[in-house]
Amino acid sequence: MNIILLGPPGAGKGTQAQRLVERHGMRQLSTGDMLRAAVKAATPVGLQAKAVMERGELVSDEIVSALIGEELDAMGPETGAIFDGYPRTAAQAEALDGILGQRGRSLDHVIELDVNEDALVERITGRFTCANCGKGYHDKFEQPKVAGVCDKCGSTEFKRRPDDNEETVRTRMAEYRAKTAPILPIYETRGIVSRVDGMADMDQVTDAIEQVIAS
Ligand code: AP5
Ligand code: MG
Repeated sequence: MNIILLGPPGAGKGTQAQRLVERHGMRQLSTGDMLRAAVKAATPVGLQAKAVMERGELVSDEIVSALIGEELDAMGPETGAIFDGYPRTAAQAEALDGILGQRGRSLDHVIELDVNEDALVERITGRFTCANCGKGYHDKFEQPKVAGVCDKCGSTEFKRRPDDNEETVRTRMAEYRAKTAPILPIYETRGIVSRVDGMADMDQVTDAIEQVIAS
């Protein structure tokens, strides 16, 4: 199964993708995570992407589509893919069709997380992750069970994203509205879009996604 999780910054794409990975052994393909790893490793892609990401703008279509192709090639053909934060433009949506087709894959579902943008700034500015295993947390909505200790791996190191400040978040949202939301009709004409209430409790969102996948 290959699915796209679509939604603005803070909609819960990463949170829900991690849960699908745990439950179904699928692979999360987050272009944001791939780019952050490239920035950290100071690869040529990372050097090109760093400033763009800090401004909250979009990295070039060619770069992200190449990253997605490489990740898919590193996966077994039986492993399902969850696309998180990709595609984000019409050009990326078109590229994804080619990338999947060349590998004998096709899209099963596009799940749109329907959210109220006003609530997202709070979600994003309160977010942090385990520096060791990447598990996501939130100051208010999902704290570690033992303060300062990761539930999943026991690490005591956590980190916050440099683009998780209010000003950059506003730019990221504007980019979503201008360039990403307009790709939905492409998938609507194929009859594979499902809308899920992303403002519901995290577990309810997971249940709703499970229902879509089972349908
Ligand atoms: P990316 O990393 O993809 O960031 P984003 O799209 O802005 O989305 P986020 O990761 O901020 O949000 P999310 O939906 O994953 O929310 P999360 O689950 O963490 O991209 C970053 C940058 O990289 C881009 O700006 C761009 O520069 C570049 N880039 C990446 N992909 C690209 C591409 N394809 N093309 C071009 N450039 C690209 O949830 C947020 C918080 O809310 C968490 O703390 C969570 O605990 C909490 N939360 C989640 N769900 C709920 C809930 N139901 N109730 C309460 N709290 C919740
Ligand atoms: Mg994310």
